[in-house]
Amino acid sequence: MSRSDLERVATAMVAKDKGLLAADESNTTIAKRLDKIGSPSTEEQRRSYRELLFTTPGIAQWISGVILYDETIRQKTRDGVPFPDYLVKLGIIPGIKVDTGAKPLAGFHGETITEGLDGLRERLIEYYKLGARFAKWRAVIDIGEGIPSHAAIEANAHALARYAALCQEQDIVPIVEPEVLMDGGHTLERCDAVTSGVLTEVFAQLDRQRIHLEGMILKPNMVIAGKKCPTQPSAEQVAAATVRCLKRHVPAAVAGIMFLSGGQTPAQAALHLSLMNRLGPLPWQLSFSYGRALQEAALAAWGGKSANVAAGQKEFQKWSRLNSLARSGGFQAGMEQQAA
Ligand code: 13P
Repeated sequence: MSRSDLERVATAMVAKDKGLLAADESNTTIAKRLDKIGSPSTEEQRRSYRELLFTTPGIAQWISGVILYDETIRQKTRDGVPFPDYLVKLGIIPGIKVDTGAKPLAGFHGETITEGLDGLRERLIEYYKLGARFAKWRAVIDIGEGIPSHAAIEANAHALARYAALCQEQDIVPIVEPEVLMDGGHTLERCDAVTSGVLTEVFAQLDRQRIHLEGMILKPNMVIAGKKCPTQPSAEQVAAATVRCLKRHVPAAVAGIMFLSGGQTPAQAALHLSLMNRLGPLPWQLSFSYGRALQEAALAAWGGKSANVAAGQKEFQKWSRLNSLARSGGFQAGMEQQAA
C-alpha cells in the first residue's frame, strides 16, 4: 500500500470547486428512476443514460470523480471507449460501488447490515485494473421507534472499517458512507444524536482496523429533520447543526467530507452545502457526492429519449455548476431559477 498515492487521490477528489457524481445506482435502483420517467431499464438504456451524463460538455470543471456500478465500469461509449478510460481522459477519476446492498440484520427487525466483504479483495484487484481509484460502501441506519440499536450501528461500522482496510491495501481510496436516513418523522435533534453515535462508532472501528485517515473520504448525511417531521428547521439550522456534529466527531486528519443528498431537493442540497462552506475555517474540505440532487432534473429533461440528450445534459451542467459554487459558499437560494 502506498500512503502517498491514497492521499494524492483523496486530495484530488476534493479539489477546489469540485465534487463527485454518484452514478452508481444498482440495476434495481436505476430501474426505479427510469420507470419514473416512463423508460424501460434495458442494459442499452442504462448505458445511454450514463453516456449522456459522462459526455456532458465541460463537466470536468465541476466534477472530480464519478462513482460507477459494476455494470457501468464495464460499458463503453457508443464510439467504443470504455467509460473509465473516457473519464480519465477528461481528468475525472473513476470510482466503484463495491458493497452488495443492505440486507435484513438477523434478529433485529427493521434494521439492515450492508453485505459484500466476502471476495472483496479479488474484486478490488479487478476494479483497479479496470481503472477505479476509489470505492464506495454504504451503510444504512434508519431512525424509528426503538431503532437504531447499538448492535446494528456496531455491525455496520465494523463492516465499513473492514471494507476500508481492504481498499487501502489495494491502493483504492475508500469512501466511508454511514447514511442515517431522512425518512420518517424524527426531529433534527434526534438525527443529530443518532448521527453523533454512528460517527463515534465508525471512527472507533476505523482506528481499530488501522485506517489511514488522510487516505479516505467520509460521505455522511447532513443533520436534518425527517421528511415527515412537522417542524422543519431552516437551512441555516441544518448547516450549523451539521458542521457542529462533524467538528465533534470527525478527526481533522480525514482527507475530505463529501455529502450524500439523501432525498433532499436539488436546491436544498446545494443551499445546505453552500451555507456550511460559509461557516469556515473548517479542518476538512466540504464537498458533494450527490446522486439524485445532481441527476433528478437531467433525468426528467431527457425522459429516456435520444432527441432530448442535449436538454438532459444542460440540466446536469446546471446542477454541477451550482454545486461547484456551493463549494465556496457562492450558491444562494433562488439562483437555480435564474440559472440556464
Ligand atoms: P443521493 O445523493 O441520491 O443520496 O445518492 C448518493 C449516494 O451515493 C448514496 O449512496
